[in-house]
Amino acid sequence: MARITASVYTSHVPAIGAALDLGKTGEPYWQPVFKGYEPSRQWMKDNRPDVIFLVYNDHATAFSLEMIPTFAIGCAAEFQPADEGWGPRPVPKVIGHPDLAAHIAQSVIQDDFDLTIVNRMDVDHGLTVPLSLMCGQQSPTEGAWPCPVIPFAVNVVQYPVPNGRRCFNLGRAIRKAVESYDEPLNVQIWGTGGMSHQLQGARAGLINREWDNAWLDQLIHDPEAAAATPHIDYVREAGSEGIELVMWLIARGAMADVDGGPKPTLRHRFYHVPASNTAVGHVILENNV
Ligand code: DHB
Ligand code: FE
Repeated sequence: MARITASVYTSHVPAIGAALDLGKTGEPYWQPVFKGYEPSRQWMKDNRPDVIFLVYNDHATAFSLEMIPTFAIGCAAEFQPADEGWGPRPVPKVIGHPDLAAHIAQSVIQDDFDLTIVNRMDVDHGLTVPLSLMCGQQSPTEGAWPCPVIPFAVNVVQYPVPNGRRCFNLGRAIRKAVESYDEPLNVQIWGTGGMSHQLQGARAGLINREWDNAWLDQLIHDPEAAAATPHIDYVREAGSEGIELVMWLIARGAMADVDGGPKPTLRHRFYHVPASNTAVGHVILENNV
């Protein structure tokens, strides 16, 4: 049987990708951000997964406003880095896992979550920046990401967006699906996006450290409470783009303690402001099953 061995949570910010791609990680502005991920890159080397199930959001890159699925699972054999206006990031293409993705789609859809099956999709900074932060820079031609990745896109850009409770319960269904796959794969689930930020309007630039850190406490120790946060609270407290945090609840819902298993081990927690317009939060939880 396949197992979810750990969950990883991290913000994504396009400027972090640019800092990596342009060799600026040692600059005083960026140095503290990347320092927070040094233990994570070592942890990735020591805990190499067979597959990463990567929950992220597309920013009107693969899906325009003409058509936006609420939950979309990438079932393709590979995914190209998207061109977001400045050319595609110089990173390797993402290799998928069509067989496990199809199995998860089958199981989760039968479990009442309607997923959109996507067989062709370019992946934007929402997916490639977390991979770069956790795995380090890889040459687009000679390098490769450490393992196959199943991209799982959530609509957090066009209202109505899914609420935290639904995302949390979807995570539970994903864990059930993974555990009914009959190859012994080590699967990590990543929840990405957030933390507080607002990119537009009168409150552009909003950051709320206190709220972010209280939410992180809940995510780790009382995930049911984090999942009960109404969506309007994210917008009020964490800004219009703070709603990206509901994606972290999919990953948290996939941990064993949610369904009576042992508590996870907190391996790493990091918080830093600023990175572009966003508060960067990062957590690694290991499953004890
Ligand atoms: C920024 C953050 C985002 O989540 C995003 O999608 C685009 C930009 C920023 O902080 O600049
Ligand atoms: Fe974003």
